[in-house]
Amino acid sequence: MELGAITRGTGPKVSLSRQATATQRARMSATARHASEGGGVSESPLGGAEKAACIYLDWNATTPIYEEVADEMRPYLTHFGNPSSSHAYGRPSKAAVKYGRDRVANLMGCSSSEVFFVGSGSEADNWAIASAIKRGKQLASCTGRPHVVTSNIEHPAILEALRAYQADGLCDFTLVEVDGEGTVCPSAVERAVTENTVLVTIMHSNNEVGAVQDISSIAKAAKRAKRDVLVHTDAAQSFGKVCVNVKELGVDLCTLVGHKLGAPKGIGALFIDESVTAFPNFLFGGGQEGGRRAGTENVLLISGLGKACEIASRDGPGISSWMKSRRDQLRDRILAGLVPVPVRINGQGDGRGLPNTLSISIAQCNASEVLAELSEDVAASAGAACHSGGAGVSSVLTAIGLDESHARGTLRLSTGRLTTEREVDRAAELLCASIQKNLKV
Ligand SMILES: Cc1ncc(COP(=O)(O)O)c(C=O)c1O
Repeated sequence: MELGAITRGTGPKVSLSRQATATQRARMSATARHASEGGGVSESPLGGAEKAACIYLDWNATTPIYEEVADEMRPYLTHFGNPSSSHAYGRPSKAAVKYGRDRVANLMGCSSSEVFFVGSGSEADNWAIASAIKRGKQLASCTGRPHVVTSNIEHPAILEALRAYQADGLCDFTLVEVDGEGTVCPSAVERAVTENTVLVTIMHSNNEVGAVQDISSIAKAAKRAKRDVLVHTDAAQSFGKVCVNVKELGVDLCTLVGHKLGAPKGIGALFIDESVTAFPNFLFGGGQEGGRRAGTENVLLISGLGKACEIASRDGPGISSWMKSRRDQLRDRILAGLVPVPVRINGQGDGRGLPNTLSISIAQCNASEVLAELSEDVAASAGAACHSGGAGVSSVLTAIGLDESHARGTLRLSTGRLTTEREVDRAAELLCASIQKNLKV
């Protein structure tokens, strides 16, 4: 095995395996480039799932990986060394994990020793909750059942975990209600903290309506109410779209998710501030991740996540302003195309929200029917589709006060770095025509 044949930036050096022929490599790179930039894949077994003609406006669901990310990962498809091994096979993998961790830390604004890799955003959220509850039980200040404060617009990875722990008698929790724009009031959080509160977990930004919270004020309010409470923020939707610096926010724990920022699915990170002591392990086994999260590190995905974080640190403001321009263009075209149909725009109206998210509600129009009709042409989400794809109304939309008719008529459209002006014009035209046709009046 030759090591060190390819140098990428200041990262570790690793060779492409001799087993991959030049032709295979060329095909791999052409396919990855095509797929990562949103194009169709002629040899894909996905049967048209990556159809180029379908305009992708569902970037909050997931994002295509960057070509640079695919390039960064490619050597680790074949370089198989275990990062825990100290021999020649293990060393490049260990270096790749370190390099990935450094770049994630740089984006989060913390030190590398505070970044712990996980298999998903859901895992990071579950870990934050489970360990904060266990830790809280040991605190002298917690004399009863551990209590958690959260909001009524959190992702199911938070709310379902809390419901499960409550059902097992392991915790109680309070849902702080958001206002009509989806904003959490810091003083409401402060009021919800009790003597047994061990964790306050409020998402940095919401995946459905794009509301961004003032986490810094929320963290201060929580700690004012109880000094030793831990503060977690689920920033899955924020990294790569808005600036998130965990130290400036003053949080103890923070969730980052790879597939929302151009890295692959199945990788994320939990920030655990160095000041958090006695934070129990989530997965038990080998001593990986500083002994806190067992399991051989996924070198391939970690290297991809590192690259995506490097790109977000480097290009974040430019990408963000591109997404915003396309989102604003989409909003303006749809509003103009639907006159005189009343359209409600959900989320924060003063520019605080995520720059790429447009949530609109049209009463008397079933958004799922619109999206089903356009499923070959426009990819987006409906407010009624929930996370499981079922027919229930989204709890986030109910939380911001939407009646059932508006909730069922809600479309979540989210733009990204590859969304073009032409795509936006075409998508707006198609959406307006379908909405007009489906109006039940
Ligand atoms: C706000 C938020 N938190 C957590 C998650 C869960 O991330 P994952 O799909 O990696 O489990 C998501 C994904 O949709 C999300 O939007």
